[in-house]
Amino acid sequence: MRLGFYNLQGGTGKTTVAINLAYYLSEKAKTIYIDCDLYAGTSGILFGYENDPHNLNSYLSGNSSLDEVIHTYNNLAIIPSDVSPDAFNADMDFERFAEMVDILEETYDIIIFDLPPNITEGNLLFSSIDKKLINKMIIVGEDSIPGIVNTLKTQELLTAIGIGVTGTIINKYRGIVDFEDILDNVIALLPYDKKVEEQWALNKPVVEIKSKFGRELIYLAEDLAHVYIEKDLAAMRALKLAKELMGLAEDEE
Ligand SMILES: Nc1ncnc2c1ncn2[C@@H]1O[C@H](COP(=O)(O)OP(=O)(O)OP(=O)(O)O)[C@@H](O)[C@H]1O
Ligand SMILES: [Mg+2]
Repeated sequence: MRLGFYNLQGGTGKTTVAINLAYYLSEKAKTIYIDCDLYAGTSGILFGYENDPHNLNSYLSGNSSLDEVIHTYNNLAIIPSDVSPDAFNADMDFERFAEMVDILEETYDIIIFDLPPNITEGNLLFSSIDKKLINKMIIVGEDSIPGIVNTLKTQELLTAIGIGVTGTIINKYRGIVDFEDILDNVIALLPYDKKVEEQWALNKPVVEIKSKFGRELIYLAEDLAHVYIEKDLAAMRALKLAKELMGLAEDEE
């Protein structure tokens, strides 16, 4: 399953939510997190890969192999983006991105895409030639007045380009805006919590630090796993099994 985290607005908590959900889900299913923010990604800072030359940028420039760019944190597989200023100088081939995702899908049940803000219709991350690269999106919106506007705009954009929205997460929730009255697809309210900042210094996901945010995120992860993911995983396992059986049948012929 390919699951993206997006908002047109920057800084809403896409990376925080995507990494932590991915980390939690990796205990249940084979999960890979991809930092698609090629120029300003921060997952490399969280996991301490600042000096590691292998990342999504180096893969897209042909300087690293797929194996080299896949890092791990416990059960979670991670493809970080380049944290260094070199991120801007590389000559990247974006066709390699779609190919890479197809290869990863053979190994991983869940592929989490942490998207940069401000990407729109024409961007490769949203569409490839004949099929959508990401078929399900979770919008991470921020509890603020501009947060509502941008979350509504993001919803319109995704609907217009035919990407299904699994739900909206309101992050940094402090009771500023009554989102549930305005949006009908809110799947979680994640509290504003100072502890979230500690993850960057401690180099570990917030769900490993005792915090209000982590507790709420785990509830959300459990819900997502039950409602959305298990159904998809069951369908995927059935498909894999069917393919294997067909392979066996062909071998026997
Ligand atoms: N619930 C929260 N409570 C407090 N701080 C938070 C919360 N969620 C995220 N933050 C902080 O907000 C900042 C932005 O978070 P994050 O990098 O996850 O956002 P983003 O949407 O991925 O940003 P960008 O658009 O730049 O990719 C970080 O410093 C993060 O620690
Ligand atoms: Mg981010």
